[in-house]
Amino acid sequence: METDKRQLLEAAKEAKKYSYAPYSNFHVGAALYCKDGSIYTGCNIENAAFTPTNCAERTAVFKAVSEGKKDFLAIAVVGDREEPLTPCGVCRQVLTEFVDGSTFEVIMEDGAGSIKVMKLEELFPASFSPKDLQS
Ligand code: THU
Repeated sequence: METDKRQLLEAAKEAKKYSYAPYSNFHVGAALYCKDGSIYTGCNIENAAFTPTNCAERTAVFKAVSEGKKDFLAIAVVGDREEPLTPCGVCRQVLTEFVDGSTFEVIMEDGAGSIKVMKLEELFPASFSPKDLQS
């Protein structure tokens, strides 16, 4: 529902306020919607050594998984730019571990406030997932 998507985007914007991005100055927030109705938020957390940087999406996923949640329906992502912000490749892979890419929704917003929704599978086709390890 449009209202739910808007609510998830607002939660991502709240999370963006906590973004720690002194090196890129690019602030990102994410809000992960779980099957049980709960929402886990995250922000990007940078590091002086650069590579330990964690994206907002992964922060949200790791928070949720570390609290026993593994069933996710959607994630909203907002960043410091006008165009909709899509998750990076590493975050797409991390999401693929837990979700069905054909139904899981990535919810974004453009500068004018219009909502854009893409299925994870559209963003990350032919991915390598847990089922590829089943013999
Ligand atoms: N970043 C995210 O948090 N999520 C994305 O989807 C794209 C990139 C962060 C990582 C880094 O802190 C900053 O944005 C610039 O790449």
